[in-house]
Amino acid sequence: MKNENNAICEVIPLCKAGLHDEDITRVASCLRSGWITSGPICREFETAFAGYKGIAPEQVLAVSSCTAALHLALLGAGVGAGDEVITTALTFSATVHEIIHVGATPVLADIDSVSWNIDPESICSVITPKTKAILVVHYAGRPCAMDRIMEIARAHDLKVIEDCAHAIETRFHGQAAGTFGDFAAFSFYASKNLTTAEGGMLVGKDPSAVRRLRIASLHGMDRDAWARGNDDKFSYLVVSDGFKYNLSDVHAAIGVGQIARIEENLAAREAIWRSYMEAFSDLPLGLPAPLDGNGDRHARHIFTMRVEDGGGQRRALMRHLQGAGVSSSIHYPPIPAHPYFQDRLGIRARDFPVSFDYGQKTVTIPLYPTMDHGEIARVIDSVRSFFGG
Ligand SMILES: Cc1ncc(COP(=O)(O)O)c(C=O)c1O
Repeated sequence: MKNENNAICEVIPLCKAGLHDEDITRVASCLRSGWITSGPICREFETAFAGYKGIAPEQVLAVSSCTAALHLALLGAGVGAGDEVITTALTFSATVHEIIHVGATPVLADIDSVSWNIDPESICSVITPKTKAILVVHYAGRPCAMDRIMEIARAHDLKVIEDCAHAIETRFHGQAAGTFGDFAAFSFYASKNLTTAEGGMLVGKDPSAVRRLRIASLHGMDRDAWARGNDDKFSYLVVSDGFKYNLSDVHAAIGVGQIARIEENLAAREAIWRSYMEAFSDLPLGLPAPLDGNGDRHARHIFTMRVEDGGGQRRALMRHLQGAGVSSSIHYPPIPAHPYFQDRLGIRARDFPVSFDYGQKTVTIPLYPTMDHGEIARVIDSVRSFFGG
């Protein structure tokens, strides 16, 4: 790609995994060890993750994706056929697919126009006698209003599951995201603040529920292959329904270094975030709202902003950025905009006006800890030049 001076310049990606030599060494040593599926490195990663979240290692389970963790969380919460689960209209499809996969019906609630998170009052308006759980998403890394959501859940005897795909470092009123609900699901997909290439983590309040789900995550076997090779019992029995959701040690080996650097990376994300907020403050853009304070913390996972006119303006901006070698994306086309969910749930995009409006206007620009000053300046200049600034 060439810039206006005809010099070659690299396209700035939306996200980039920040891998260090020590990560590569750790992966190489796992490969050389000959034990490459779930084993001691998964346990090491789980312990480090639990330590970071301030919970017991017995409360976490490393799995192959956040999608897998969501499935297990819904099963763990006892959600099944005939139940309804309330979730946000603004999320990635996996959040809603997993509700369908356990036989339940997803019931969407609209978002709040300031936080872009699920609106607690909208939750209240769709509770029915069939509602079993609320599945919240800390969108972009901003905490949901967990005080109000937990209050609603208690009043109606509902389970709470937190989709923390964007929210590893997130806190609400000083408490870590993923520790409010009965279960939480984290993503370590390639674009996430902590990546294992593919991977996820299930967190549960009750260690005995996590123990049961650990068994379910690997074919329902009472002992995994590492345990069978390292004690004197040698065999296994299938004691529950089972899936193939375990994380391999090769993937976990990437995660061990990443979890150690998570705060350092967040500081880098915060600095870029501040640069964007300052640089765009005079542009006709809806920028992320400041946090409410009181110990709230944003994980700065994706920098999303809203143009004024969702029709041609967003497309024109994205084209302009593409021309300048700056990647951009849309997080997300809202759930009610997808044909599958429209047919399956009998909904229309305009039934959820706040998500509909946001989904038409939002644009995500690059944000990753290793962005250098030149890249940050190029993103800023490209956005500003679109508005003639
Ligand atoms: C909000 C949300 N939930 C769930 C997922 C699924 O994560 P994974 O790819 O780890 O299954 C994603 C992935 O981007 C996501 O953004």
